[in-house]
Amino acid sequence: MCGIIAYAGHAPAAPELFEGLRKLEYRGYDSAGITTLDRGRLYTAKRAGTVEGLRVDLNNLCGTVGIGHTRWATHGAATAANAHPHVYGRFSVVHNGIIENYSELRSELISAGHAFSSETDSEVIAHLLDVYYDGDPVDALRLTCARLKGCWAIAALCTEFDGYIVTRRGSPVILGRGKGNYAASDIYALSGRAEKYSIPEEGDFALVTPDKITIFDEHLNEVVRPFDILKSNFSEVGTDDCPHYMLKEIRENARTMRATCRAFSSLDLSAVRTRLKCADKIVLIGCGTAYNSALAGVRLLGGAYDCPVSAHIASEARYNPPRVTGRSVCIAVSQSGETADTIMAARIAREAGAYLIAMTNVGYSAITRIADFVLPVCAGAEICVAATKSYIGQLACFHLLSAGTSPSVRDCALENISKKVEEIALDDTYAPGIAKLCVQSRAVFFLGRGYDVDVATEASLKLKEVSYIFSDGYPAGELKHGTLALVDESVLSIVIICDGALAEKSKNAVEQILSRGGKVAVVTTLPPIYAALSGRVQAVWLLPEVPSHLSHFLSSTALQLVAYHAALFAGHNPDKPRNLAKSVTVE
Ligand code: M6R
Repeated sequence: MCGIIAYAGHAPAAPELFEGLRKLEYRGYDSAGITTLDRGRLYTAKRAGTVEGLRVDLNNLCGTVGIGHTRWATHGAATAANAHPHVYGRFSVVHNGIIENYSELRSELISAGHAFSSETDSEVIAHLLDVYYDGDPVDALRLTCARLKGCWAIAALCTEFDGYIVTRRGSPVILGRGKGNYAASDIYALSGRAEKYSIPEEGDFALVTPDKITIFDEHLNEVVRPFDILKSNFSEVGTDDCPHYMLKEIRENARTMRATCRAFSSLDLSAVRTRLKCADKIVLIGCGTAYNSALAGVRLLGGAYDCPVSAHIASEARYNPPRVTGRSVCIAVSQSGETADTIMAARIAREAGAYLIAMTNVGYSAITRIADFVLPVCAGAEICVAATKSYIGQLACFHLLSAGTSPSVRDCALENISKKVEEIALDDTYAPGIAKLCVQSRAVFFLGRGYDVDVATEASLKLKEVSYIFSDGYPAGELKHGTLALVDESVLSIVIICDGALAEKSKNAVEQILSRGGKVAVVTTLPPIYAALSGRVQAVWLLPEVPSHLSHFLSSTALQLVAYHAALFAGHNPDKPRNLAKSVTVE
């Protein structure tokens, strides 16, 4: 969603905040702003568009204390007026989350004579702070939060205090100590600056000056929260020699598989395996790509454990939760570990008695703090909004979890497959051609059976997300029950044929499409399919032959590349799809 950064130190604040915002920009990129504070005066710059637009303002932003924000619009268009920080009276505020009761609060404040300068839900926070301020900024923040409904991470400046205040409820914020005192929506923004970090508890307040961070609980009792050493050096997160994060991250698929294998081999999974073996059911929850990996998880875990396994979209499951008992296991899948719907659905399952496993790429995220066990997806920082290597890492996790014993790195089958994934990710022979067919088409269907249908579902999400081409992922056998009506020469069907047991059936789908004049591209690991369809369809990409249950690593990597090239042909930046944000911390 949005990204927040705050700094109090002895260096000029504006460049610190600007660099932090650049690292947070993947969270939201429709507008950005900074306020600094110098000797009781607020200096604010806000612009629609990317963080880069603020560069021209940096020299005008004085002071060594400040707050910054990069926005993903929820209330009000992406304009400079709606960009954060919102300034009212003595306060300037940045907010991540949603204030559900903002219209009541706004009406109340307008009746009391307040004038608003934006359409956002967030601006009420600045007004309330000014109303409740009586010499103590933290108390003003406590009183303000008591009026709010929804979720928030807030950082605010007050003209009468040389520092900033922070709080969170339901949205992430991390405090950092290093060359100054920081607060940020995620750890990437702190990398290279903070040496230690601390995650405040829900409802905590922090009073941050250039020399000190003081933390209070929700009743304003001063508390000590642990600060851990910030080990990972995310400051080196860049695109390497790739033109985009998306390509770089696809090329890290193989590394993710190997790192996840290594992490599993050093985990004590005995409690988890016992839970899974004795479970009356296993429920998997997630959103978007994480849900799509859960679909593969159903197949893999279903073959390994003697109980029903089901996948649930978290935004549905939280309102219509799958029934669980004290013997059930719930696996919440989330790259960021911050997705509001997934956290809520996971919390409900845990409260109903289920053993909660968080499968996440972000070790310090919110989901890890409510889980009984954390399964690490070792993808490293994933910056592109479209999930690629984290999906591959989630697949690897499901494989490792369904393996009978804890696999060592050496004999891990995934280790061998990862070499083939590496080769595919570097191959640009086939993906651009299939991508060109996509952009020349009115719609693209991804079809498959068995293991391949899960790949089709995720490949379709990837294509629509970065190329904006209409697409659907579909079981090939369902074609004749309705979808075939849409097939003509303007529609491309990409048929994935890697599940050996069902290959002939999938080939039938190709025949059905061809006989109706539809265009077909095939992605297969099976030489006989390649031989049978070469020359008869628009394109066939032959991948290395591997066992069916491992083929999704290869076919997914291939189709991620197709989506990437389709975005380029369509003239879009694949790293920042329109209307989307990386981390969906609102409901
Ligand atoms: O961080 P999460 O895995 O919980 O995020 C879930 C979805 O928002 C995410 O997978 C989204 O669908 C991606 N943009 C897909 O590429």
